[in-house]
Amino acid sequence: MDYFELIRRRRSVRVFARKPVEDAKLEQILEAARAAPSAGNLQAYEIYVARRPEVRSALAAAALGQDFIRQAPVALVFCTHAARSSSRYGERGSRLYTVQDATIACTFAMLAATALGLGSVWVGAFRDEEVWRAIGSPKGQQPVAILPIGCPGETPEPTGRRPLSEFVHWL
Ligand SMILES: Cc1cc2nc3c(=O)[nH]c(=O)nc-3n(C[C@H](O)[C@H](O)[C@H](O)COP(=O)(O)O)c2cc1C
Repeated sequence: MDYFELIRRRRSVRVFARKPVEDAKLEQILEAARAAPSAGNLQAYEIYVARRPEVRSALAAAALGQDFIRQAPVALVFCTHAARSSSRYGERGSRLYTVQDATIACTFAMLAATALGLGSVWVGAFRDEEVWRAIGSPKGQQPVAILPIGCPGETPEPTGRRPLSEFVHWL
């Protein structure tokens, strides 16, 4: 699948089959995240791999009861690592770059999952405190996204997008 086909095919999948994700595929997904660009190549993010059912249940509760996080065989939690970025870039690093670093890494992971025939969905609605408790991350690490991953149990319809003419500004 070429890149343009990949981004056309990706959908948010919220139903997962009761099948594990092979370790080799998980490794490829994590390597894809690792390949992402980051400010100053500081890679100011951390990834928590939630495989234990009790951790995924706690994440689902933290995400306002989005139960598909529990149903997926694995969920990745992408957090900022502010200190890594602020050491070089100060407040701009800890406020902005670290969020961008984590976001790009999650995007690369999501597209890798699609390329491997897996489904995923970006989850941004959660209570930070509960995510911190669920994954045991230090307070300085702001959770940015939860990415449940598994074999798709549904084939969602494509969702609409604004026309380019509405949001692209040629100067
Ligand atoms: C920042 C962000 C936060 C999101 N949060 C959630 C979420 O909490 N729960 C959910 O089911 N989907 C969430 N989504 C997925 C979007 O609903 C989805 O990407 C959008 O509706 C477009 O559908 P598509 O991904 O199938 O193209 C989120 C997506 C992004 C980028």
